[in-house]
Amino acid sequence: MKKPLIIGVTGGSASGKTSVSHAILDNFENEKIAMIEHDSYYKDQSNLTFEERTKTNYDHPLAFDTDLLIAQLKELSSDRAVDIPTYDYANHTRSDKTKRQEPVDVVIVEGILVLENEKLRDLMDIKIFVDTDDDVRIIRRIRRDIEERSRTLDSVIDQYLNAVKPMYHQFIEPTKRYADVIIPEGVSNTVGVDILITKIASILQGGN
Ligand code: ADP
Ligand code: C5P
Repeated sequence: MKKPLIIGVTGGSASGKTSVSHAILDNFENEKIAMIEHDSYYKDQSNLTFEERTKTNYDHPLAFDTDLLIAQLKELSSDRAVDIPTYDYANHTRSDKTKRQEPVDVVIVEGILVLENEKLRDLMDIKIFVDTDDDVRIIRRIRRDIEERSRTLDSVIDQYLNAVKPMYHQFIEPTKRYADVIIPEGVSNTVGVDILITKIASILQGGN
């Protein structure tokens, strides 16, 4: 059994991490490849009221159960299936369901803080930082959080100024130094994405 190739994809909120990850996934649809979102490992907050949960800082490393993610990546690397938690953004907590993930050849680990934790970082073979300007990211986030995450404009702006922006500068942006590759603009940077895909294909074909 061969250990899977583990690829970390990070960047600020709405930088395009998911879009870049899907571009990679779509290109390898004939391989055994999976994407795991760090967001699935936000801590269970079902013991708190909804009001209390709205006050959590979701952009701080302590909001995540990263030890569980690390343990599950190690299980996958040992050829064992895992049950990944699922997360409900509208209710700010873990949902009851889990998603079974069988062992694969390639795992993409995506999230705002996946390069922040040294033990998690050390499991990765390729580390990618998607770099998109703050103004573009806040515009995208306003649209997405209202349409898909049941938020109001005021709540998105408050959260951005009080947590998303300061935590980006404190914890996320500094992880750029750990990246092997920085992709400005994300998925619309077709040259950058193609270079990544070529590299991954070469590794999968036995190169390095
Ligand atoms: P992240 O995973 O970093 O939060 P997403 O890939 O989900 O970011 O992108 C956030 C939003 O921005 C989505 O609505 C997506 O369709 C849009 N988006 C992502 N990349 C681009 C791009 N290069 N150009 C235009 N819109 C984009
Ligand atoms: O997809 P994206 O990378 O933007 O997801 C991470 C963002 O989700 C964080 O910036 C965090 O503020 C937000 N989040 C939220 N509410 C939650 C959990 C996460 O707004 N309950």
